[in-house]
Amino acid sequence: MSDFDLATVDRLLSTTRAVRKRLDLSRPVPRDVVLDCIRLSQQAPTASNTQRWRWLLVDDPELRRALGGIYADGIPAIRWSMEQAAHDPQTRDVYDAALWLAERLGEVPLLAIPCLAERLPDGAPLVLAASTFGSIYPAVWSFQLALRSRGLGSTFTTLHLLFEQRVRDLLGIPADVTQAALLPVAYTKGLEFRPGRRPPVESIVRWNRWDAPGDPS
Ligand SMILES: Cc1cc2nc3c(=O)[nH]c(=O)nc-3n(C[C@H](O)[C@H](O)[C@H](O)COP(=O)(O)O)c2cc1C
Repeated sequence: MSDFDLATVDRLLSTTRAVRKRLDLSRPVPRDVVLDCIRLSQQAPTASNTQRWRWLLVDDPELRRALGGIYADGIPAIRWSMEQAAHDPQTRDVYDAALWLAERLGEVPLLAIPCLAERLPDGAPLVLAASTFGSIYPAVWSFQLALRSRGLGSTFTTLHLLFEQRVRDLLGIPADVTQAALLPVAYTKGLEFRPGRRPPVESIVRWNRWDAPGDPS
């Protein structure tokens, strides 16, 4: 029998949301708390046990402002996506919050850029692409769960990768390092978060064969 407190574990897993408007921009994030969360994330799996995670943590106000300026150049892309989602209120709300974040990213106390100390070759086969990004994203999610357990929130974002080279130049990231995401990190305003709306699990599962009779199309 497992000795985990399932109520707590399930609440952590089901209420770790993309936090944007409830990030507390006025409260500093202590470096040791972030290091604890990254230490926990190092238990995540990596292909062939490569462990090529690297984390660039930006808390310098000027660099955050400059990074925020680059990120804000993605606002037209968010507005465009928002128009495409005009018919879907849930997705429109997501873009509304994404826009809010893009207008203030540089004010978030900590910007974390999870990286990999390797590059995906152009035209890499699926197995290599999956093994490469699959060796950083589990750690990123562990990091986000650890943050939530300590009263901090974050959002997984990739918008800045539209401007990968500019961010590389700003922060001195070497050419053989891959940026995988950018996470704004801050304490949250309030600690209560609700599970997001998701379809019934049966509608996304198939047993044994994709085309088994009776399974959802
Ligand atoms: C691969 C990926 C890319 C994402 N990129 C962005 C982004 O650029 N900007 C942003 O604000 N949110 C971004 N998100 C966050 C999603 O919008 C969010 O996870 C989704 O809407 C679900 O929200 P929830 O976790 O609160 O339910 C991204 C998430 C993933 C997994």
